[in-house]
Parts: sequence; structure tokens; C-alpha cells
Amino acid sequence: MKIKSLVTGGAGFIGSHVAKHCLDMGHEVIILDDLSGGFEDHIPAGAVFVQGSVTDEALVSELFATYRFDYVYHLAAYAAEGLSHFIRRFNYNNNLIGSINLINESVKHKVKCFTFTSSIAVYGAGQLPMREDMIPTPEDPYGVSKYAVELDLKAAHEMFGLNYVVFRPHNVYGENQNIGDKYRNVIGIFMNQIMQGQSLTIFGDGEQTRAFSYIDDVAIPIAKSVVTPAAYNQVFNIGADKPYTVNELAKVVGACFNVTPQINYLQARNEVMHAYSDHTKAHAVFGEGSGITLDEGIRKMAAWAKEVGARKSKEFDNIEIYEKLPQGWEKKPETAAATV
Ligand SMILES: NC(=O)c1ccc[n+]([C@@H]2O[C@H](COP(=O)([O-])OP(=O)(O)OC[C@H]3O[C@@H](n4cnc5c(N)ncnc54)[C@H](O)[C@@H]3O)[C@@H](O)[C@H]2O)c1
Repeated sequence: MKIKSLVTGGAGFIGSHVAKHCLDMGHEVIILDDLSGGFEDHIPAGAVFVQGSVTDEALVSELFATYRFDYVYHLAAYAAEGLSHFIRRFNYNNNLIGSINLINESVKHKVKCFTFTSSIAVYGAGQLPMREDMIPTPEDPYGVSKYAVELDLKAAHEMFGLNYVVFRPHNVYGENQNIGDKYRNVIGIFMNQIMQGQSLTIFGDGEQTRAFSYIDDVAIPIAKSVVTPAAYNQVFNIGADKPYTVNELAKVVGACFNVTPQINYLQARNEVMHAYSDHTKAHAVFGEGSGITLDEGIRKMAAWAKEVGARKSKEFDNIEIYEKLPQGWEKKPETAAATV
């Protein structure tokens, strides 16, 4: 009998790649996605698509009863970290309670492994490089919800024996990324702006650094995790090693579209200046990464972005707190700024 895997968020960026790798590994793949941030045409051929939310307890319960999943890959979330301060209730309901619905059913149905995509947001503004043995101190609701799910998985493992693997990726980019979300994905935002002939918007002076990670360095280990017993009940940082400034990034993206971008610098947001992780642990268990450089990765993504074209940025309609909402996040898409 075929291995059955649930991929939540499989119409999204990382999830669609994970789903494709699972199909290539011979799994029967069921995707649960509410299309709030994903696209039906990103769903790989051969996967069963169920449109719905992980917050719909009855639907989640029905899916587990119907399919009796061997593995669960949980990627569904709204990952707009900076915005999460202003959409707290939505964030916890979607990213935390939705995850708990899946964990409950995974315990009940004796799922063999639950792979969760957390984030380096759990570390907060800790020491660099971020290492898995540091004590997380998340500083925003997005990071708090991710860390809460990590802790709940540990508790579910200790209480009920549910095996889990936690990944903490950072600043992932590549084909199938939602380039039309003005609240997140700086590389996608830059590409979308260039394709619309707009200047690139950067919060602060652009000297903040991030280790931008090509999708293969993230989706492949996530897909393999369930068949890697050495990874069970462990936490892994994954992604690229080398940090770049946002100013450097803007030049690389511009070069891939043959333009010298104009930059519109906006007031700095409350965000960490530098973020990069240590990947020694992941390399020991999953092997070295693809070795793809930033130029190569951006070039691949740019080729895809040119094919799909610019996307209109959607407003997040239900802002819960307006106080201190960053410049450009009011209802004016043309002033949207890049968030890393
Ligand atoms: N992209 C990154 O740099 C990054 C970094 C760290 C962690 N992550 C995590 O990886 C996962 C995937 O992120 P991504 O960048 O592919 O984002 P994405 O928005 O492209 O994918 C998320 C998918 O989840 C779906 N979704 C959201 N809420 C849902 C719900 N309640 N029920 C069902 N589906 C829902 C969206 O429609 C979307 O297709 C997320 O959990 C995110 O927190 C991403």
C-alpha cells in the first residue's frame, strides 16, 4: 500500500515543493490549503487537493478518518512576521490553534511522524549565529505561535509517543513564491515592483542582513525528514549560510531583470538587524545543501517570475491594531515596502 502523506499549505510556496518531492518519493499526497496565500496552479500534478482550513476542526478530523495518514507535513500558516503584531488574534487562531487541530488528530490516528515548519522567528534577537541549543525568546506573535507549536509537539511526543521533526527555516525564496504579498517575502516584493516599473522599497537603510535560502535547501530536507529516523524528535535550522544586506540583494535582483533599481527608503521597522543560523546539525543528518549561490537562485526565480508576471498585492483586511502599523502597510499598495 502507498504511503499517505498530508501536506498542509501545499498550494503555497514551500508546501508545493515539499508535495512534489513527496510524490517523487512515491507517496500518495493529500493537500489541505485554504488558498489564502497559495495558488491552485502551484499544486503538483498527482496530488489530491482539498480546499479548506486547518482551523476547521470537523474537516481536519474527517480527513484523518478518511485517509489514515502515515505522515503529516504541516506548512499551512500566515507567515507575515512583522504584521503579526497587528493581527494577533488571527495569528494565534490560524498558526497555533490550526496546528493543534492537526496534532490532536495525529495523536488519535497514530501518525508515524509529524513534520512542522517553524521559523528562526522563535529565536528572537538572540546571539548569532542562531543555534538549536539556544533558548528561544520569540519577540512577536508569529514567533510565539511557532514556538508554542514546537513545545506542544514535544509534549505530545512525551505523553503519547507522537514522533515529530521541527524545521526552522529563514528567508526562503524560489519558484512558486507569492510575489504579490506586500507584507512579506522581500525578494518576491522586489521582483513584483521591478516588473511593474516601480522603485524598490526598503525599511531602514538596507544594511540589515539575512541569509536568503534557495527553496531546494529547505524543501528537500523537509520532505526527507519522515524517512530519516535520526531526525525524529529533533529541531533543525535549515537554509543558506551566507548573509547579505538588503541593499546587496536589491542589486542582485535588479541585475536579473537588467535594471539598476531606484530605492525608496522608508522608516525602519522594529525588526532584528542581523539574522543567520548555524546549520551544522542539519548538515550532519541531511547532508550538505545544494550549494546554489544567491545569484544562481535569484536567476532561477526571476526566470519563473517573468513567466508568471507581476501580481497585484492584496491588502490584509482585518487589521486588529492600527497603532504603530509600519509606513506603507496602510491601504496604499503603491507605497508597499519590502519586509524581510
Ligand atoms: N518562506 C519563508 O521564508 C519561511 C521561513 C520560515 C518559516 N516558514 C514557514 O513555512 C511555511 C510555508 O511558508 P511559505 O513561505 O510557503 O508561505 P505560503 O504563504 O506560500 O504558504 C502557506 C500556505 O498555507 C496556506 N494556508 C494559510 N493558512 C491556512 C489555513 N488556515 N488552512 C489551510 N491553509 C492555509 C496558504 O494558502 C498558503 O498556500 C509556513 O508555516 C511558514 O511559517 C516560511
